[in-house]
Amino acid sequence: MKIILATSNAHKIKEVSQISKTSFEFVPKTFEVEEDGKTFSENAVKKARFAYEHEKIPTVADDSGIEIDALGGLLGIRSARFMKGKPYKEKNAKILEMMKDVLEEKRTARFKCVAVYFDGTPHVFEGVIEGKIAYEQRGENGFGYDPIFIPQGCDKTMAQLSSEAKNSISHRAHAFKKLIEYLKSLPI
Ligand code: IMP
Repeated sequence: MKIILATSNAHKIKEVSQISKTSFEFVPKTFEVEEDGKTFSENAVKKARFAYEHEKIPTVADDSGIEIDALGGLLGIRSARFMKGKPYKEKNAKILEMMKDVLEEKRTARFKCVAVYFDGTPHVFEGVIEGKIAYEQRGENGFGYDPIFIPQGCDKTMAQLSSEAKNSISHRAHAFKKLIEYLKSLPI
């Protein structure tokens, strides 16, 4: 079954194909959609709906980001827009600077992902991974804020994990595994 994956993010495309490992064919396609929703869910539905109206076949889109408790839940839906145009090395350095006086027990954070399957109706699946913000950037794998995020129960940052390890525990893995279970349950 062919499904449009509405994203231009090459990292997400690779992760989704590694997570899905099924007969569903996710075909990546880029759409210009303003992410002006107030939640991950609103933004993901908007992207998936736009792609569906354009392509007339079922679509999938996700919206994701990092929430840092000591920063009042930032970056949230603004994760992609934070210090727009700057490299992630600088964005991560800025976050570590903002967190410099935050004690270990207050460094809690999470990645969230909302994946939406749209076939005329939105079907919404959420994934979360809890963890903490590190004291320095570590690791070269993954993307975005992975070098400063330490998953719960782990002593490595997400960027120090192999792609197999990240894609078995990540927020995106949790959301897309639910989405794929839903697809498998459809009578098609
Ligand atoms: P969007 O979902 O395309 O709006 O962008 C989400 C943004 O959140 C990304 O550009 C990254 O900055 C951040 N993000 C989302 N998922 C991850 C992840 O798995 N690792 C690191 N950063 C992520």
